Amino acid sequence: MNRKNIICSVVGLFLIFASGKAMAVELSPLEILGENLFKTKKLSLYQNRSCKSCHNPISGYADPANLLNPVKSPVSFGADGESMSIRNTPSLAYAGFTPTFHWDDDIGGYVGGLFWDGSATGHFLGDPLAEQAQDPFLNPVGLAMPDKGTVVDAVRTSHYITKFIGVFGQDGFADIDSAYDHIATAIAAFERSPKVAKFASRFDSFWQACKEVDPAMDLSAITDPGTVQSLPQGVLTEQELQGLAIFNGKGGCANCHTSSDYETGVTPPLFTNSTYENLGVPFNPEIEEIAQDTLAIDYGLGGRDDIAANDPAGLEIGKFKVPTLRNIALTAPYGHNGYFPSLELMVHFLNTRELGSWEPPEVADNINTQDVGRLGLSQEEEAAIIAFLRTLSDHELTGPELYNHLIFAAEK
Ligand code: HEC
Ligand code: HEC
Repeated sequence: MNRKNIICSVVGLFLIFASGKAMAVELSPLEILGENLFKTKKLSLYQNRSCKSCHNPISGYADPANLLNPVKSPVSFGADGESMSIRNTPSLAYAGFTPTFHWDDDIGGYVGGLFWDGSATGHFLGDPLAEQAQDPFLNPVGLAMPDKGTVVDAVRTSHYITKFIGVFGQDGFADIDSAYDHIATAIAAFERSPKVAKFASRFDSFWQACKEVDPAMDLSAITDPGTVQSLPQGVLTEQELQGLAIFNGKGGCANCHTSSDYETGVTPPLFTNSTYENLGVPFNPEIEEIAQDTLAIDYGLGGRDDIAANDPAGLEIGKFKVPTLRNIALTAPYGHNGYFPSLELMVHFLNTRELGSWEPPEVADNINTQDVGRLGLSQEEEAAIIAFLRTLSDHELTGPELYNHLIFAAEK
């Protein structure tokens, strides 16, 4: 890199840090209403839980209780205190970029939709995020309310009513269905707001520094760990930069966890292509133990009735959505069933699955043997990838400080 570029990136970084401190996020009235609905416990069966109970910013908008104890607490409990999800609670930050569920001819597979199996398709409300937000209120494994009318009534009698009418007008409550849609629209607007989709990680500062040098720079093109000295310096460590190169190159992670810009020069990478794959993640016996019951196999995408009806050969069974890796260091455990308590284990599994030292897969069909399973990464290379993944967090609390915040958040 030449001298001018270095000066450019130093100035650029200064601006980012300076503006980062001063920048207060201003939300629109719709987003503020959504934030209130996201946080209030009034919309749960015993008024004891909210969306935020399971999706807290301190744990990257996943469940703080799971991060506190990823081995023994891999899944979330619903508002009734008994029902539990059989799936790992994902981060919801950045979920708003997920396209509506559809078949893609070029890819030759399904793309988009929310939930691990894409079942919040977006086909009904035109937006998977808003559609998803209607599920937890009535889900026993979520907020466990009896019906839509009860949720709408709880909003009508809350002190958010003025905000609601301010946004949706006097007839916002005209009928239950449209009021319920409005609630979902507001929550989705909050989830998409810069307060949640922050792009505030150290990786994002590095991205910004690269764009100062060359607005068209494509970070997915960094594949050689030997050349990272030529990249903007001072934001990421040498190991983290090497990790990025291995992530893109030898590891092949970016084939699914896309590391090129979402919108060139405007929106940084989201680290997912929203497709579906079976990585051969083993069954998680911990969940069975917590449930004190024998659990059915989770067939993921192919387990959906609407998919199964058009999938006689069973080509979709065992597939789960490629998750974003943003905030990944804050969202342990990992995998659709939380089988992996740490990033170390998850990455080691992707590297060595085919070598035979792992438990058999939960679903043995359709396993991706092309891109993962036998990567030939050394211990140092695995460690570099993990160091890179840790740069994707939107906050940098660690150790006792993080622990204290988690304890507080998990009680909420
Ligand atoms: C009891 C814990 C719990 C509560 C409460 C909860 N969620 Fe979730 N959330 C989950 C779990 C578990 C999943 C994954 C379920 C699946 O994939 O089948 C999930 C998935 C999601 C997703 C999909 C993310 C993705 O990338 O696919 C979004 C968005 C989301 N929740 C938003 C919300 C909103 C909004 C609320 C409140 C209305 C809420 N959640 C309440 C546990 C919870
Ligand atoms: C072929 C596509 C593909 C490739 C290549 C790939 N992944 Fe993934 N990744 C996925 C899918 C799909 C899941 C979810 C699988 C499941 O839970 O069943 C996943 C899950 C993960 C998770 C857990 C995420 C969470 O929220 O629980 C991490 C971490 C991860 N991958 C990192 C990597 C790294 C690092 C590499 C490269 C060494 C990599 N992946 C390569 C598709 C891929």
